[in-house]
Amino acid sequence: MSKNVIVTGGAGFIGANFVYFMLNKHPDYKIVCVDCLTYAGNMSTLADAMKNPNFKFYKTNICDREGIYEIFENEKPDIVVNFAAESHVDRSIENPEVFLQTNILGTQVMMDACRKYGIERYHQVSTDEVYGDLPLDRPDLFFTEETPIHTSSPYSSSKAGADLLVLAYHRTYGLPVSISRCSNNYGPYHFPEKLIPLMIANALNDKPLPVYGKGENIRDWLYVEDHCKAIDLVIHNGRVGEVYNIGGHNEMANIDIVKLICKKLGKPESLITYVADRKGHDMRYAIDPTKIHSELGWLPETKFADGIDKTIDWYLNNREWWETIISGEYRDYYEKMYGNRG
Ligand code: NAD
Ligand code: DAU
Repeated sequence: MSKNVIVTGGAGFIGANFVYFMLNKHPDYKIVCVDCLTYAGNMSTLADAMKNPNFKFYKTNICDREGIYEIFENEKPDIVVNFAAESHVDRSIENPEVFLQTNILGTQVMMDACRKYGIERYHQVSTDEVYGDLPLDRPDLFFTEETPIHTSSPYSSSKAGADLLVLAYHRTYGLPVSISRCSNNYGPYHFPEKLIPLMIANALNDKPLPVYGKGENIRDWLYVEDHCKAIDLVIHNGRVGEVYNIGGHNEMANIDIVKLICKKLGKPESLITYVADRKGHDMRYAIDPTKIHSELGWLPETKFADGIDKTIDWYLNNREWWETIISGEYRDYYEKMYGNRG
């Protein structure tokens, strides 16, 4: 049956991949993207989607209550998937305020609209960072949905605040919600402020590769398409009021990722530069995806060895996309964050 789906944050990394995934998987659905195009949103990413008659774009901030209500009146969505967020931990350490505004108050506005106009499902795209971190010397520990919320950065705190609000809207108002908490994604359209695309872009330009601390921090990497498939399953078949962890059992230390990128691009490891550590830097993330596997049959399909090759090829074949970004206001950001990092 045809459905109208609002995707917020669809001009960003995961949201855009989700837009393309949904247009392809559900050709009878109407996909409505709501994105205010912050530094992280990019219309060139959505250029192909804009040619599809089943896709519509609104340049609107999710904190703009009137604007959001008007979109709900026009589009009458059945499902809302909220990706829109400030997503970069380092930026949250520099300037927390906008993280609280968008990630918490924006979520509230989206859910108020869902209450006012009625909805089949409101889905909140959250993160494994709400669980804090795990120690490096306990590889037997994983995040389950029962792991207590214990955040480290303003970013993860804002995401955790939003998650609690979503669950409160379910309990208090009966809003049909679900939440997914995913590990680190990688793939096409990943903004070059994040580890993998930053290292690919710098290596291709023979620039230093800034590794925080000793590079021993561990992340659990998932190819972005596998995340999109998981969300599609949760919004259609996941239980209302539930949280689902999404992750690939693919833990890697940052330094190993950076060395792998050097090797794949034929660049010397001498480009690697150890710089001052991130404040409050989480040591290890590792998801236990048993619940989504046993309830919904989800498993990651792309192995890291294949996913990283596809990702590097994408950055090689789409230089204009990321070169345009890094030649704009990103240059000031880079100078501010890395200029005197030492
Ligand atoms: P991103 O920074 O690449 O994209 C965010 C998008 O949201 C951009 O298009 C931006 O313009 C838009 N946006 C920001 N503030 C907005 C506002 N106030 N109103 C409307 N649009 C706004 O982020 P991403 O990496 O694609 O992450 C998407 C979501 O997934 C976030 O909620 C993030 O917390 C979550 N998440 C990300 C990862 C990851 O590895 N990147 C992993 C788990 C969860
Ligand atoms: O776990 C999910 C989270 O993954 C998402 O919720 C966030 O939105 C997303 O940004 C990501 O957060 P991280 O902080 O893990 O990602 P980032 O790419 O910023 O950093 C990955 C690791 O690499 C982290 O340990 C810090 C390190 N790093 C990062 C950058 C940008 C470096 O060593 N050097 C760098 O220049």
